[in-house]
Amino acid sequence: MSVVDEIKERLDIVEVVSRYVPLKKAGRNYKGLCPFHSEKTPSFVVFPDTGTWHCFGACGTGGDLFSFIMKRENVDFGEALRMLAPMAGVSLERPTVASSVEEQRRQRLLEITAAAAAYYHRLLLGNEGERARAYLAQRQISSETIERFQLGYAPDAWEALQHHLRGQGYAPADLEAAGLIIPRSDGTYYDRFRDRLMIPIHDLRGRPIAFGARLLPGGREADERAQPKYINSPQTLLFDKSRELFGLHAARQAIRAAGAAVIVEGYMDVLSAHQHGFANVVATMGTALTEQQLRRLKRDTSRFILALDADVAGQAATLRGVQQAREALDRTWVPTPTAGGLIRFEERLEAQLRIMTLPPGQDPDQVIRADPQRWAQLVDEAQPVVDYFMRLVTDELDLSTAWGKAEAVDRLTPLIREVADDIERAHYIQKLARQVQVDEQIVQSQVLRPRRRQERPGPPLPAEEEAVPREAGVFRRLEAEAHCLAQLLQWPELLPELDVRLQALQVRPLSSADFSQVVDQEVFDALLQAQVTDQAWDAEAFQEGLEAPVQERWRQLLSYGSALPSLPEAQAADDLVNVVLRLRLGRLRRRLAELRYLLEEAQGEGDGQAVAEYGKTVQEYTAEMGRLQQVLNERTWSGRRRAL
Ligand code: UTP
Ligand code: MN
Repeated sequence: MSVVDEIKERLDIVEVVSRYVPLKKAGRNYKGLCPFHSEKTPSFVVFPDTGTWHCFGACGTGGDLFSFIMKRENVDFGEALRMLAPMAGVSLERPTVASSVEEQRRQRLLEITAAAAAYYHRLLLGNEGERARAYLAQRQISSETIERFQLGYAPDAWEALQHHLRGQGYAPADLEAAGLIIPRSDGTYYDRFRDRLMIPIHDLRGRPIAFGARLLPGGREADERAQPKYINSPQTLLFDKSRELFGLHAARQAIRAAGAAVIVEGYMDVLSAHQHGFANVVATMGTALTEQQLRRLKRDTSRFILALDADVAGQAATLRGVQQAREALDRTWVPTPTAGGLIRFEERLEAQLRIMTLPPGQDPDQVIRADPQRWAQLVDEAQPVVDYFMRLVTDELDLSTAWGKAEAVDRLTPLIREVADDIERAHYIQKLARQVQVDEQIVQSQVLRPRRRQERPGPPLPAEEEAVPREAGVFRRLEAEAHCLAQLLQWPELLPELDVRLQALQVRPLSSADFSQVVDQEVFDALLQAQVTDQAWDAEAFQEGLEAPVQERWRQLLSYGSALPSLPEAQAADDLVNVVLRLRLGRLRRRLAELRYLLEEAQGEGDGQAVAEYGKTVQEYTAEMGRLQQVLNERTWSGRRRAL
């Protein structure tokens, strides 16, 4: 049983909910005034049998104990988990069941890396760490920062860490796999990090998974010249430099609070920023920003500010990097309600990327130390990418020549074209026209030139393929909800396609409210957040930052999903549409049964107002059911006809 189920089983939903809402017994169930909207007739009902609640009134919300607490206390799933677990007397500290050999290996490497970080940290604070401490003092790194980031010192010895960890019972092969020691040709090993300041790199949960190791001044002469300034852990089972961001575990909260993440390059920049209270700063560890890194950040914000070194800001490679990053964040389909009450899907750049330029010759650490206010100001002044590129391009070209003008318009129009907001786009067109001193109409026509690729999937075509094959046997046991989720986890790029098809049928897009289990809702939300647009997405890696019970469910769904027959995309989307329709019908049917019960009761009690209100809801639900059933009938009927 999952922790979530265990908590639900041990807690009485009626008892917990009544702490917030006075409840009155109504047959087998309990009802009260909905705490989520104001009403006079109680339409908020708790169903002890299923451990769920639902508001049959205006807000129409519902869920289980977790959703109730999340909504009522305005907390996320993790917080609700940590509130409810102690109430239920359920421990969250259960050892994670290592599901596979690889999982066991990961666990061992995590243990080893944690032990190494503890060892380095202890040495930094002891006698041997004196030179490293002096260096940190000179860099004005405080002892709070040293503690918070668990900084350490690797001693000037060839086998110190190795002896220490082998003494704790770890095998050399595992230490090597953790990237801590390197084999010699004679089969012995030596420590990778020697006489360096050790900076642990943590995963989202704050567990050390790798190290950055900085050279210390005043070490042995020979070493110092030959060695690079930083040595990083190699790629291991735990660590992939292009995926991690240094400081993210410490920055997540601040990123959410600030509504933006600032991305710098260096370890020291992060340490310095956090120490000065700018905790929404993370580092790419020297390499160009990758798509995976941005995806990771997108869970906490969609506003990014890239701190670029003045010297490199104009360089081609950096620009390419920024452009790539931008493309990675590219378009998503955003459901936008229209005046007519329909949902239209608009293509939007779902992230805002701004660029801040640092003063020449300075890195963030220097700026912050010299004047923290200056840093705050530079962050505030960060320019949207379009403005930034515009400045760059127009600075670079001679705009008095015809060629310069044409070139500037050529390079900038693709960027301007993608600005989703009409007014904003018009603004850039105007600005560019002014800069190149060309008629605005001409620039505009360039921007409006037909796009090369087809960007808007059309309405579903009457498929000529055979009817969707029956689901594989293993899925018959699965609920429609789980099936739907498993399929989406397998092919997340189907999600926008699914919504487009639903919209064409005038059916609401899929949302987390379509799932009755809170863990499924969390899985769906995480998937939605991930906004997967390509097939290279790593669902396995993505789940890492989720709460343990959600991860557990995620893995379960992944393994179900991997056994799903792979359908052509059009069919898979079609299949999903049917699943969603069935899922909604099933839910409405259950709701109606519940409602009828409430209605009869109100009639028995002679509560005229309640009868009228419940009656109205019954009508609404019935109408909605009829509509969905009709849509489904039409689809399956034509499906059958095609199969004949
Ligand atoms: P910097 O040289 O800007 O690092 O390189 P820094 O953090 O500001 O270090 P200080 O201030 O000189 O002490 C930026 C990042 O590039 C990576 C590191 O992640 C570093 O933080 N880098 C740099 C390496 O991986 N290896 C190197 O030899 C140099
Ligand atoms: Mn620096």
